[in-house]
Order: sequence, then structure tokens, then C-alpha cells
Amino acid sequence: MNLTVASSIHAVRAQVKAWREQSARIGFVATMGNLHAGHMDLFRTIAPHCDRVVCSIFANPLQFGPAEDYAAYPRTLDADIDKLQSIGADLLFAPTVQEMYGSSGMSDTKVSVKRLNNLYCGKLREGHFIGVATVVCKLFNIVSPHVAVFGEKDYQQLAVIRQMVSDLSIPVDILSSPTIREKSGLASSSRNQYLTPAEKTTAALIYSVLCEMRKAIEAGDGNFNDLEARATTRLVCAGFSPDYITVADAMTLLPAQPDTRNLVILVAARLGKARLIDNVTVTI
Ligand code: PAF
Repeated sequence: MNLTVASSIHAVRAQVKAWREQSARIGFVATMGNLHAGHMDLFRTIAPHCDRVVCSIFANPLQFGPAEDYAAYPRTLDADIDKLQSIGADLLFAPTVQEMYGSSGMSDTKVSVKRLNNLYCGKLREGHFIGVATVVCKLFNIVSPHVAVFGEKDYQQLAVIRQMVSDLSIPVDILSSPTIREKSGLASSSRNQYLTPAEKTTAALIYSVLCEMRKAIEAGDGNFNDLEARATTRLVCAGFSPDYITVADAMTLLPAQPDTRNLVILVAARLGKARLIDNVTVTI
């Protein structure tokens, strides 16, 4: 079947309503466009769980800070449509800012997942996760999917969305999809294109450092502060400005305790014009 492209909320609701009347199960992939291998994997993850796949492409101004790259965020709609067609998506919702937020371009109502907002990227990028939760809540209300998938690369975002869905009793199942990496280990991201070729080589160090930390923890090293400090030094020496590198509880995202068994190592670091995030999970 061909991809239908809709820019109005009304058209999306009408199409999804018709599919739901045929008892189709609706799957949803929310994106900001500039689709890459990581996004394509989201579609492969959701396909077995639904009959129709809806994708949104919306660079959401609410989740960008004043000094961030909203204006420069890569917009590649024609190429994205080709990719969606090749992966067999059924409906693309590509609204304007006005369609989503009216002429003010703002939303007076905001969704704040308070505890997670105060950690890591939430603390450093003020308002970011409020923008994410607000737009995802709104997209869920527009698309009314049965199931949606988000990438594990954005680990904190995934936690925010799961918490919001649970707290607000939104009737959607949330799936996650493992991080897709380039051969070097660098996690696929639209922001990798801000890296020069030399920086791209350096950027692969993030994943090596994460894997070494995981290996050390698996081998019994429980001195997380020391592991974090050594990893920070390695990144700084290679030219990164790390925002944080932390061993956390995989469920709560709070700093890991000696008896925490399910861990996630979260990192955010700037390199050149790019801010890169990554993570690995560890079970001990
Ligand atoms: O991960 C993203 O691309 C965005 O944060 C999302 C979930 C599409 C919300 O704008």
C-alpha cells in the first residue's frame, strides 16, 4: 500500500478512525525527521505488533532551548518520504508548527514528568523533557495508536515517556528498540552530521569507554565514582566536553547503589558542534 501524507490533525484522525473501524491495530513512530538507520529499525521493531504504521515528522520547537539547534535542525522531508515508502509505512503526519500549536506557536498546557526532569539531560537542557512529553502526549491524542516505539539511545526520554503513559493512563503500549550503531560503535543520530570526519572518528570513543566501564562492572568493580572519573578524564583528553557520565539504576535513573543489579551507564558529551548521548545497560 502507498504512503498517505497528511499535514492536518483532522486528516490523521479520519484515517486512523477508518482503520480502527476495520479492527486494525495502529502502530506509531514519532520522529523529528532526517530519518537514518536508527529510525528504520524503529519501523522494523513495531511492524510485527500492528497492522498499520503511522509516522510523524515534526521538529518540535518546544523541546529546543534558546541556544539549541532548532532553526538548523536538518529538514529532509522528500528523502524521508522515500524512506518511509521503502519501509512500508502507511501514514505520515507532517504538521506545521501552527497546526500543532496554533498561531502562538506555543502550548499553554505542558506535561512535566517532574522527577526525571530534574536529572541529567533534563537538568542541563531546561524544559527539554517538558517539550518532549507535551508533544508526545499530543501526538498520542491525535494518532491514538495501540502501540508506539522509541529508541533506547534516548534512554532518559524513553523513561520519561513510559512514566507519562503510566501516570496519565494513556492507553498505548510502549516498545523500545536497541541503539543502532555505525561500524565504529558510534550511535546513529541526526546530530552526527554536525561532526567533521575527524570528529566522527573521535566520537566512537564514547562507545568504547561505555563498553570498558561495563566490562569493569561485570568483573566486579563497584567503585562507580572512580569509574566515572576515569571515563571523564579519557573523554576530556580526547577533546570532548562531557556533560555527565554516570552509572545509574536502570529503572529509576538515580545514581546506582552498591546493591543495584540492573544498571545503565549514561553519557552526554559535546564534541565540536555536536552534543552526543549514549548509554549501555549492565546486569550484575
Ligand atoms: O526522539 C525524538 O526524535 C523526539 O524527541 C520525539 C520523541 C519525536 C519528540 O519530538
